[in-house]
Amino acid sequence: MSNGFVVRSLDEIRFWSRIMKEHSLFLRLGFRCEDTQLINEANHFYSTFEAIESRAHAFDAATDPQTIQRFNVEVHTAVSHIWGFKRKVLGLILQCQLPGQNNFPLLVDHTSREAFYFRNRLEQLNAGNLDPLPDAIINENVFFLRIMADHAKFIGHLLDPSERKLVDQARNFSDEFDQLLFQARDLDSMRPQSQTVPLLDQFLDENRVSVKSLRDFKKTARDLIEACRIKSIIHPLLADHVYREAERFLLIIDMFENTLTGTPVQHIHFD
Ligand SMILES: [Fe+2]
Ligand SMILES: [Fe+2]
Repeated sequence: MSNGFVVRSLDEIRFWSRIMKEHSLFLRLGFRCEDTQLINEANHFYSTFEAIESRAHAFDAATDPQTIQRFNVEVHTAVSHIWGFKRKVLGLILQCQLPGQNNFPLLVDHTSREAFYFRNRLEQLNAGNLDPLPDAIINENVFFLRIMADHAKFIGHLLDPSERKLVDQARNFSDEFDQLLFQARDLDSMRPQSQTVPLLDQFLDENRVSVKSLRDFKKTARDLIEACRIKSIIHPLLADHVYREAERFLLIIDMFENTLTGTPVQHIHFD
């Protein structure tokens, strides 16, 4: 356990606890007025993750690693609970027990996948077994490319149908990221033979180009929504939320790229 462990843990928790907090808000906004039990549960998760977020900001790099290890366990429990809640809501929606509610099933599933990812990262951090770089590159890209493809689909479906040009752009991004996801899965199944530096480097380059243009599209959409210049049922905070997730993916791609090209292959570790 080291300073790197503390910094890494706090970075993940600061980013993802805010995301979990916002998911609670989005879910709540989609419920019907009569679903008071679900609304209360969502509000409870909102305060839980709000508190976790502010505690994560109160700690710093000098915090005792053992304190952070316990904090990670605590956050892990909260994330397990919100994951369970999201899966329960997904079940209710798919069994048509909440007719007229406004959360897309894919959105609920999507937010549960993000919770699962966060929980898994906390487990890896505490166990001290982060994926070796070549595995991390493929795993993270498979995860995030699907997240990006989903975002494009949500945007396309939440824009007003009369915003034809933007809907069209969103659909193109959806197709582009579906393609990239298939490519990533192909590379995944060719493991470990596919994990050569040139292939991984090219993979990162190609993904970065698309993520950058999706990120810019999301930023434009966010600004237009905030300025009330386009018609949609997208909450301004949701627009900003998906923009931040694209920024996070870009950051991860850049970190991989630097590690991949900056250090000798045999010494590559995802730290
Ligand atoms: Fe999210
Ligand atoms: Fe997302």
